Amino acid sequence: MKIQVGASILSADFAHLSDELKKCEKAGIDSIHLDIMDGHFVPNITFGAPLVKKIRAYTSLSFDAHLMIESPARFINDFIKVGVDGITVHVECFGELRPACQGWKFPKEITSLDATQIRPVLKMIKSAGKKAFVALNPGTPLCINEILGEIDGVLIMSVNPGFAGQSFNRTVLSKITALRTKYQGDIQVDGGVNDQTAPEVIKAGANLLVTASYFFNAPDKAKAVIGLKKL
Ligand code: DX5
Ligand code: ZN
Repeated sequence: MKIQVGASILSADFAHLSDELKKCEKAGIDSIHLDIMDGHFVPNITFGAPLVKKIRAYTSLSFDAHLMIESPARFINDFIKVGVDGITVHVECFGELRPACQGWKFPKEITSLDATQIRPVLKMIKSAGKKAFVALNPGTPLCINEILGEIDGVLIMSVNPGFAGQSFNRTVLSKITALRTKYQGDIQVDGGVNDQTAPEVIKAGANLLVTASYFFNAPDKAKAVIGLKKL
């Protein structure tokens, strides 16, 4: 499968986002990854649809919204309206949270997914003609068998969500391998992806890589993208 790289603007210079988007285009980035955080699902707040609306005009690259928010269904139409191409919702929003991660405890994890809860949300995304992805935190097992035929891709988190610049959690490699044996769609990996970890995730079966700190800190961004794509 073709390897593609998405740049998360979480590590971009927020005061100069239009310039940062141009840098992404010039460097050969395939898509822009928007890390949307609400301070409830993850212990951090980033930005919402109004900012996405403003920056949409500055690039023709596709926009993927990674919703790290407690009630994603409430905000999906807002992101569709401002022109995102794909929306990722976390499965942890659609199942019973482990007792250890209820309230203000993170990361959020579930052991089983309630497919009846997530289906209308996936439908909402797909009926608008957008790509529907589901994300799994590192501590959430592969619990998505029932919905594999209803999604465009799976986002495997390789760090606990909330912040850029964390180290890659190698325990998720077996999750990627296990998913690839039964799933032919897109497998995206997000968190701690760099020139050292990218070959491992590609070998395990991922085809979409997300990077924030590695890409935005790279002195030669085009070289960084080429480096991520090669095994
Ligand atoms: C983590 C976000 C990631 C993050 C990746 O909560 O979902 O997209 O920005 O950052 P790096 O690439 O620095 O690990
Ligand atoms: Zn992300």
